[in-house]
Amino acid sequence: MILSIESSCDDSAIAITEVATNKLLFHKKISQELEHSVYGGVVPELAARLHAQTLPKILAECEPYFEKLKAVAVTSTPGLAVTLVEGVTMAKAIAVALNIPLIGVNHLVGHIYSLFIERETTFPLTVLLVSGGHTQVMEVKSLEEIETVAKSMDDSFGESFDKVAKMMGLGYPGGPLIEKLAKDGDRLKYNFTVPLHQSPLIAFSYSGLKNAVRLAVEEAGEAKEKYKDIAASFEHIATKHLIMKLKKYFKSHPPESFAIVGGASANLYLRSQIEELLKPYGTKVLLSELKYCSDNAAMIGRVGVEMYKKGLFSSLEELDISPKSQI
Ligand code: KG4
Ligand code: ZN
Repeated sequence: MILSIESSCDDSAIAITEVATNKLLFHKKISQELEHSVYGGVVPELAARLHAQTLPKILAECEPYFEKLKAVAVTSTPGLAVTLVEGVTMAKAIAVALNIPLIGVNHLVGHIYSLFIERETTFPLTVLLVSGGHTQVMEVKSLEEIETVAKSMDDSFGESFDKVAKMMGLGYPGGPLIEKLAKDGDRLKYNFTVPLHQSPLIAFSYSGLKNAVRLAVEEAGEAKEKYKDIAASFEHIATKHLIMKLKKYFKSHPPESFAIVGGASANLYLRSQIEELLKPYGTKVLLSELKYCSDNAAMIGRVGVEMYKKGLFSSLEELDISPKSQI
């Protein structure tokens, strides 16, 4: 069995995965959303302190599995430095205490493998990752052959939802709150410009749209009934931007298999638009189970199993955190 730890942002999670079967034997995640909600975003120092409190409590529940552990896997990149350190330090302590190898997992690879929790892998795969930290398209041939072909030049898709929710005083995380508000709104009420629509670049950008939404929110002032139309129009344009760039990319790289992963892949409007886009290609969309879209330790454990089988271990001295991803 592999014990896996996730602490790259505001979720403290630990999982136990059986190597031979990929079976998830234990998974517990404690989210800090409530604690950060009052600030409209994640406060790194607070997140680190909360990880230090909750991770040991979850670990104590895993004690019955300790004897059977073959390795400990932990998210070491990318993420908030102060929160990654909490997980990595705990993983090192476990590796020393139980005399088992240490596996450093890339969180973005974890999101890709959220598709394969308790399942076999299927490659090649074109993957759209939409999370709070990342918006990128990757061509995935195997665990070790992952190429990023498009990414955001500034804010991420999920982050733009968080920021719009903050402007409206809705709380954090903004994605589900904006999605809910947008349901009753008119998508065409506000004619926001689609980012980079005239650019030949296959890349993403959300800072311009965010500023356009800020102006609309300021203009609405106390007329809060306008928020639902702003939210709907924002969600529509944020999604249209992704669709337009994917369409452009597919002209030269028609997708064999396509997947959407990451916290924002839970967005139903985005899912429906991607399914519509892929219809002409006859490509099926792979999705993670809703409970594994957002950060979790089960996806880190699933990567851990693959890395364990390949002997991809790190020594105590080697394994370090890195806020920025190499992918
Ligand atoms: O993958 P994740 O849990 O954490 C990161 O790795 O960043 O993604 C969290 C992000 C947040 O920005 C959140 O607002 C966004 O995913 N999100 C959504 C939805 N649910 C979560 N964005 C849009 N629509 C949603 N339904
Ligand atoms: Zn994530």
